[in-house]
Amino acid sequence: MRIVLLGAPGSGKGTQSQLLVKTYGVPQISTGDLLREAVSKGTELGVRAKSAMDAGKLVDDVIVLGMIRERLAQSDAAKGFILDGFPRNIAQAEALESMLLGLSKPLEAVVLLNLDLGILFKRLTGRRTCQVCGQVFNIFTSPPDTAAHRAKCGHDPVLIQRPDDKEEVIGKRLEVYDAQTKPLIKYYTTAGLLRVVDADAPMATVFESIQRAVEPQIA
Ligand code: AP5
Repeated sequence: MRIVLLGAPGSGKGTQSQLLVKTYGVPQISTGDLLREAVSKGTELGVRAKSAMDAGKLVDDVIVLGMIRERLAQSDAAKGFILDGFPRNIAQAEALESMLLGLSKPLEAVVLLNLDLGILFKRLTGRRTCQVCGQVFNIFTSPPDTAAHRAKCGHDPVLIQRPDDKEEVIGKRLEVYDAQTKPLIKYYTTAGLLRVVDADAPMATVFESIQRAVEPQIA
């Protein structure tokens, strides 16, 4: 499986990537997660990325492409990958295409998770992550069950909000999506790779729609 999950902030890319990883056994490659890890470790790359992320803007293409090139070269990506949050503009999509051409591993499908603005906003303002184990919850749609979490992970959920999920930053992220990422819809339609999935449904239903969309395409 070599696919891209495309969609606005909060459309469910991370959530669905996790389900795909469990079912198909290929790694999730999330540029957002890689960047947040670099920020939390205080690496040079993290320091350079932080101000753009805090402002809801895209991080410089040179940084992101370097990270992706390195990640795709790791052995677990040889069997396939789910790209989550990458590419995010035409320049990144073109660079990805030539990287994959060089590896003789072209993309098989690009899945667009389609969701209305009002719902995106609610999903982002409601998102909380457990600081201890990284599990993602939503105070509106999937709040944590403390007893179940303790039984599964051995600790109570310690919920934090991502700094870019504050209302004032969400607006900027959605603007950036419209201006820079939405043109990829046309780009991948022209390439014959785009599959559109309705993301306004329970997580399991969205997952089934993704499976129906990609299974005829994947090796
Ligand atoms: P990134 O981490 O990629 O953020 P994003 O694209 O804005 O996406 P999110 O992680 O916010 O949302 P998601 O679609 O994964 O939704 P989720 O599954 O969590 O990027 C962060 C920043 O890093 C960027 O702003 C930029 O600065 C930088 N960056 C990253 N990649 C870059 C790149 N390629 N180039 C340059 N800069 C880059 O779901 C959201 C919530 O909804 C959760 O609470 C979840 O539980 C809930 N939910 C999910 N599905 C459902 C459902 N079906 N029903 C009900 N609730 C649901």
